[in-house]
Amino acid sequence: MIYFDNNATTRVDPAVVEEMLPFFSEKYGNPSAGYRFAKACREAIEVARERVAGFIGADPSEIVFTSCGTESNNAAIASALRAQPGKRHVITSAIEHSAVLKYCAALGVEGVETTILPVDGGGRISLDELEAALRPDTALVTLMLANNETGVLSPVFEAAELLRGREVLFHTDAVNAAGKVPLALEGSGVHLLSLSGHKFHAPKGVGILYVNRNVRFEPLLIGGGQEGGRRSGTEAVPNIVAIGKAAELARAFLAEAGSQRLAALRDHFEREILERVPGVVRNGSAEHRLPNTAHLSFEGLDAGEMLLLFDQKDFYCSSGSACSTGKAKPSHVMLAMGHSEERARSSLRFSFSRYNTDAEVETAVALVVKVAEKLRSLRSPGVVVGG
Ligand SMILES: Cc1ncc(COP(=O)(O)O)c(C=O)c1O
Repeated sequence: MIYFDNNATTRVDPAVVEEMLPFFSEKYGNPSAGYRFAKACREAIEVARERVAGFIGADPSEIVFTSCGTESNNAAIASALRAQPGKRHVITSAIEHSAVLKYCAALGVEGVETTILPVDGGGRISLDELEAALRPDTALVTLMLANNETGVLSPVFEAAELLRGREVLFHTDAVNAAGKVPLALEGSGVHLLSLSGHKFHAPKGVGILYVNRNVRFEPLLIGGGQEGGRRSGTEAVPNIVAIGKAAELARAFLAEAGSQRLAALRDHFEREILERVPGVVRNGSAEHRLPNTAHLSFEGLDAGEMLLLFDQKDFYCSSGSACSTGKAKPSHVMLAMGHSEERARSSLRFSFSRYNTDAEVETAVALVVKVAEKLRSLRSPGVVVGG
């Protein structure tokens, strides 16, 4: 099979599996227990914390382990509001993940107002519009670093600079950026940042919330006081060990020109498709985007139909459309960029990882060419014989 859907989730690295296994079988103590048997678990958590901190250029004390990216996003927004009780306004953007957009919408019943910034045709917000949206009661600005559908990078570090010295917290959902572009948080002005392990070769069900040491944090989960009271719940030791190892591997990958390797694969694929399939256009800023993502519209074709044919050949990518009800809704990201529903429905996302190869790119390109030709020939009017 060929898997080009690495923005959805990634394969767990075998070295990650190896490190986490003993924490299911031999080292299964509860890290909060005082006895020696649990000590290995406590120590392993701290090793993971150091590795994650090294990966994102932070201090270990600023790393909180959570259950997923969704929890990290929810916790960041909740904390910003609870830590500043007089402030009830949040600014975000129209292309955020539902873990931000729907959470902000849900807070509406509690009287929290959300300003949703528009994006331009390239999928980027305007810093001027961000500045204009600020209010005395703005508690938080939350903007994603990399869009999961298009791969477009938002100007989050510029936004953090803009907010410097103002009493507004800044959070970024970096879930889809981690492992693809380097992160260096120290001195960046970012107060809160979310990551999710399964996007960079750790298992599903573990996330990170970076909380800058100068920021007051109010926990979402309250109970046993684990993670220094910032996230109660018995620590998922195997998963925490895994995300630590994955962070270490991702850091090494990026240090060895990993971003460039991903970009070379993606560019090879994109070039071939643009050359060999008529009516294909690229979506989103070509300049500001992740190295691993190609987001393409196939004029006149239906992404859902293409995916069905790809599936039969064991080739996996994504339409970027939410399909929970059975009827695919056009992507809110494409609509926010000003594209038509038709163009949104003809779009596919191809996202690469370090496990993909040039040989896979060749095979996948040939398949995409064939599928596009087949669907187009079915659409073209039949030849009429005789009278
Ligand atoms: C940008 C972004 N934010 C948040 C999430 C949610 O992460 P998780 O699946 O770990 O809850 C995802 C996952 O698809 C994502 O792509």
